[in-house]
Amino acid sequence: MSKKILIVGSANMDLSMNMYKVPAAGETLVDDGGVAYVPGGKGANSAVAFARLGAESVFCAKLGADLHGQKLYQYYKELGVNTSYVKVDRENPTGLAVVMKESDGSNRIVVYPGANANLTTDNVAEAFECKPDALYIGFEVPFAIAVAAAKMASARGIPIFVDAAPADKEYPLENLPPVEIFSPNETETLEYTGILPQGADSSLRAALNLFKRVKCRYLVIKQGSRGAFIYDGRHYSFVPAMKAGEVVDTTAAGDAFTAAMTLKYLENSGEITTAVKYGTAAGALTVTRRGASQAIPTADEVEALLLSGGR
Ligand code: RIB
Repeated sequence: MSKKILIVGSANMDLSMNMYKVPAAGETLVDDGGVAYVPGGKGANSAVAFARLGAESVFCAKLGADLHGQKLYQYYKELGVNTSYVKVDRENPTGLAVVMKESDGSNRIVVYPGANANLTTDNVAEAFECKPDALYIGFEVPFAIAVAAAKMASARGIPIFVDAAPADKEYPLENLPPVEIFSPNETETLEYTGILPQGADSSLRAALNLFKRVKCRYLVIKQGSRGAFIYDGRHYSFVPAMKAGEVVDTTAAGDAFTAAMTLKYLENSGEITTAVKYGTAAGALTVTRRGASQAIPTADEVEALLLSGGR
């Protein structure tokens, strides 16, 4: 039976711009590399990932009463995401992210939260009606709402998974109840700990720092093209990245990774290495395609890459 995941998170329309380089302060660039509005938002990207990977994906989020909101709502429905708890904010526009993508596929993102900032604890409490097998949260909605969702899950004995993005060193991470997996990427780890995790030594130092503040069974630090670092409080290991083709756009790769890892972890009774490998394959495929959630692979595609061993 498929797992039912409740995702409490953000929904954005992404203004995705290709450029050969991002402009420096005071500089104006004219670049016809391409521009498009595409469905994004860390929460929504994860909700789409769960649906594409075969889970029952229940999304709790807030959209504005505008054209972007209507388009996103329709898109989620078409992909089979349960939108029963996607609410409309009549006062604020749908979240908007400006994604500046350079020719090597790397990106810089600025998010205007809009309606995401108005997700309430009542909205979240209502969503627990769906009786999920797991809660998945990110921090692109107010941190206090993410913590409230985690506490509701904890009170019901529901396992909690955290994609710890975006990061802010001021977040009181210790307010989170115990979670299964806490997963920041490298830059988020730097923001939380002051340590850039680049090899075993710095990754372990960052992990020890985070373990003092976050009660988690596993910490998984995503490290992009290098892979992912796993720490359980006693042992660490490293799963190398896979290659699925040419990197064209890294947007949503972390979202796909964390969602895929979470699902495999739940399906496989908490076997962390297999789960991280599965996440790695999902991320590797995502970076070979343009856009945010539209780039996220299906379960068949991930399985095929894992069978082939990647390129
Ligand atoms: O993780 C990628 C996402 O970050 C983008 O889709 C953008 O909306 C921001 O939320």
